Amino acid sequence: MSNRFFKFQTQVEQANERCIQGEISPEERDNIVRGMSLVDETWGDIWMLSPKGEWFRKAYGSKQWVSGYPPALVDMTSVDSLSRMDIHQVACTIGDCRQCGLHVERNRAVPGEGPTPADVMMIGEGPGANEDKQARPFVGASGRLLEELLGNIGYKRADVFITNVVKCRPPKNRDPKPDELQACKDYLERQIELIDPKVIVTLGRFSMHRYFPGAAITKIHGQAKQIGKRMVIPMFHPAAALRNPKWRAMIIDDFNNIPALVEQAHTAQ
Ligand code: URA
Repeated sequence: MSNRFFKFQTQVEQANERCIQGEISPEERDNIVRGMSLVDETWGDIWMLSPKGEWFRKAYGSKQWVSGYPPALVDMTSVDSLSRMDIHQVACTIGDCRQCGLHVERNRAVPGEGPTPADVMMIGEGPGANEDKQARPFVGASGRLLEELLGNIGYKRADVFITNVVKCRPPKNRDPKPDELQACKDYLERQIELIDPKVIVTLGRFSMHRYFPGAAITKIHGQAKQIGKRMVIPMFHPAAALRNPKWRAMIIDDFNNIPALVEQAHTAQ
């Protein structure tokens, strides 16, 4: 499979080179590249590569192109420990992880997506059925609300890094168990280190308890706390907000705090 991705990459690079050499115009190059895509034979995802070298993936069953990186191109030979992996190597390792029982029933692991580094990182609970099919976080009803909440504060989904405390779907969407949280802990730690967010937003109980053990979300939601070098702000889970209109109003309010926290973190630098 990596061979197909590599060949595809070479073809895009050749079109780019022809443009640099003046054989074709930038418009012709863009038309050639735009017309090229590669279907992942295992998952049915469609991949594209821009002339600038940015990869985009349209997950099977999704209409959205999102930036990503093909696991088939990630070089895993050079790394022997998580602490030395880059974000793509971490994602690949998660994709093959068998450290807890969740791998047995998962369809696809969901490492997370977004820019690295990013000012804001959102940490949810665990993938649901849609996420498990697409290998993307928050793509169901909760994801739509999350995008709306981000839109309200002038952010796009692609501006923030989104992930979960567990990377594989707990069967029937049950709560993650302690050993499952433990098995994923180091992945999340490494992602935080690499993404280096100024602000971490916890969505729901399990990510909140990482930073505020034993706290009740109804008491502390929206109250940012400096933890180490980051601000952490606990919020209701979007799924809870969808069930309860009162909490929906609260999460909208709590989201309004995010831009100011990011701004403060930048000025404090
Ligand atoms: N709920 C979560 O906590 N995470 C997802 O990725 C989707 C739904």
